[in-house]
Amino acid sequence: MLVVFIGPPGSGKGTQANQLCQHLSITHLSTGDMFRAAIQDETELGVQAQEYINRGELVPDQLVVSMVADALGNPPCNSGCLLDGFPRSLPQAEALDQMLDAEGKKVDLALELNVDEKVLIDRLLARKRPDDTIDTIHHRLQVYREQTSPLLNYYRERGQLRTVNGDGTVDEVHQQILAEVAEKNP
Ligand code: AP5
Repeated sequence: MLVVFIGPPGSGKGTQANQLCQHLSITHLSTGDMFRAAIQDETELGVQAQEYINRGELVPDQLVVSMVADALGNPPCNSGCLLDGFPRSLPQAEALDQMLDAEGKKVDLALELNVDEKVLIDRLLARKRPDDTIDTIHHRLQVYREQTSPLLNYYRERGQLRTVNGDGTVDEVHQQILAEVAEKNP
């Protein structure tokens, strides 16, 4: 099964991805985590990505797409994969569909985590990651509205989108996600 999580910063994509991947025994691919690992390891990709991440901007599509293409080609993804934080723009969504099409695969479920902005800001300020300053959070939310939210229509038009209310306890949100997954993957 191939699942895509779409949601603004702080909506719980990473938290819920960990739980769902354990439940389904599929691989968790978080582009944010991959970039943070590259920054930590001081790779060329990490150096390139860091300035964008620090500003709360999206890393350029071509860098992200080639990183994800490499990861999707790895054997652990053969038995299923959850993409957390990718795609995040229409060109990324189109690139993903092309990659999957070449393998005779498709996105089975695009799950939107919907959470009020005030709750998101409170969650992120409490977490204290380097890109969780108030100015960067506001900018990341604006980037989400402008560049990522058009993906909701992209997946809605293809009949792949489901939305869950991400403003509950971690377990409540997990239960809603399981219900959506069960409908798609009975
Ligand atoms: P990324 O790491 O993906 O960050 P993000 O989308 O901003 O998401 P977050 O990690 O902030 O939040 P989340 O939704 O995963 O929530 P979480 O579970 O952590 O990306 C970082 C940067 O990398 C981007 O800004 C961009 O520059 C770059 N990048 C990544 N992918 C890219 C792409 N495809 N293209 C271009 N650039 C890309 O939860 C947040 C907090 O809330 C935690 O403290 C958690 O404990 C808490 N929490 C979670 N759920 C609940 C709940 N139900 N109740 C209470 N608290 C909760």
